[in-house]
Parts: sequence; C-alpha cells; structure tokens
Amino acid sequence: MKPTLIIANFKSNKTLEEGKKWLEELSVSIKLINLTEKTIIVCPSLTLLPVSKQYIDEQNLPIKIGAQDISQFDQGAYTGEVNGRQIKEFGTYVIIGHSERRQNFNETDEVLLKKVSIAINYNLIPIFCVQDENGKIPQGVSIVSYEPVFAIGTGNPDTPENAENIAQKIKKNNNIEKVLYGGSVTPDNVKSFTEKQNIDGVLVGGASLEASEFLKIIENA
Ligand code: PGA
Repeated sequence: MKPTLIIANFKSNKTLEEGKKWLEELSVSIKLINLTEKTIIVCPSLTLLPVSKQYIDEQNLPIKIGAQDISQFDQGAYTGEVNGRQIKEFGTYVIIGHSERRQNFNETDEVLLKKVSIAINYNLIPIFCVQDENGKIPQGVSIVSYEPVFAIGTGNPDTPENAENIAQKIKKNNNIEKVLYGGSVTPDNVKSFTEKQNIDGVLVGGASLEASEFLKIIENA
C-alpha cells in the first residue's frame, strides 16, 4: 500500500471553542481507525494552532499540524504577518499557493517562491497548490496538491481519471514525490481518487469541517 496523506483545511472557519470541539470529537474515534500508511494533517486557522498542538500532544493523537499560510518575510517589522519561525513552534507543514490566496490576496509566483523558501528555512514542509499541470512549482517542494478552481467548494469534483493524468504529469515534469488532489472531496468519492496510482492523498476543505465527515474520509481513503 502507498502512504496516503489526508489533510483538513479549515480555511477561515471555527472559533477556539469550535476548534476544540472538533478535536475532541475526532479524538474519540481516530484511535480506533487503522492508520497504517495514512498520515493525517489538520490545518486550522492561526488562532487555533496553539490549542490544537496542546490537545494533540496531551492526547497523543496521530495527527500532524499545518498552517494555511506563511509570511513571505522573516521576523521583523511586517505588521499583521505570521512568520516561519512562529509557525514552526506549532506546525510541521504549511499550505502555500492555494488558489484562494492567489485570487483574493494577489499572491504571485514570485511571492510564492519567497514563501516556499522561508518555509524550507524553518524546516516546514510546504504543501504547494497548483491549478493544473503547468503551475510553476518552486525548487525544494516535494508535496504538490492539484486543485482545479472549478472543483473547489462547488460540489463538482474533477474526475479521478483526469486528476490521475494531471498528477502523473506533475510528477514527471517536476520530479515531485507526492501529488494530492483537492476540490469537493467527500467520504463518498475519496477512494476513487486515493486508489489511483499517482494520487498520494487529498486536501479537504468543506467536508473536513465536521469531525464525523472527516473521520469517514480518513476511513474510506
Ligand atoms: P473543498 O476545498 O474541499 O471545500 O472543495 C478544497 C480546497 O480548497 O483545498
């Protein structure tokens, strides 16, 4: 069996209480699921990172933590930014280049290159998002998530066949170790993606917000 990454991206959702409740709900059942060859990563909002780390450590949960973004700058006079050194206190991974950031925050290839470089400097593992097989992938990236914009939050996923085809091209053209699929992944369709040879996991938005749904995705992947 190939190792599969299953990532929850909360986006800009959940208060502290809601985040804690999600973890509590997940913690009851996750220990009962066979996680051989499965890596579970949760990417909550920055405000939830400390409490998530504390809870996961205390309960010894088989869950790793990621951030949804990182400053392109190192520490210093950058009001409002959260830098790599700060994220490293809580997380192992960081999502970079999500289409929502490219669109809503005008993040360019140049900015994303800086973000990847900062992440790597602080030993954070970038999960780099591209929208098709031609997306520019910075050096040092080993995990890419293929996320077609039409599929994000729409309930209209790509076909597993097309996602597999694109994953294969991304690997071949960029020497990438792992390619994930993201875009309207659900408990019902997750297996159709993760069973493909070149798809090494899923990045889940909407369907990760309910702990019970996310647990089903973990089970079915
Ligand atoms: P979605 O989001 O699962 O809600 O479609 C996926 C993503 O943005 O990574």
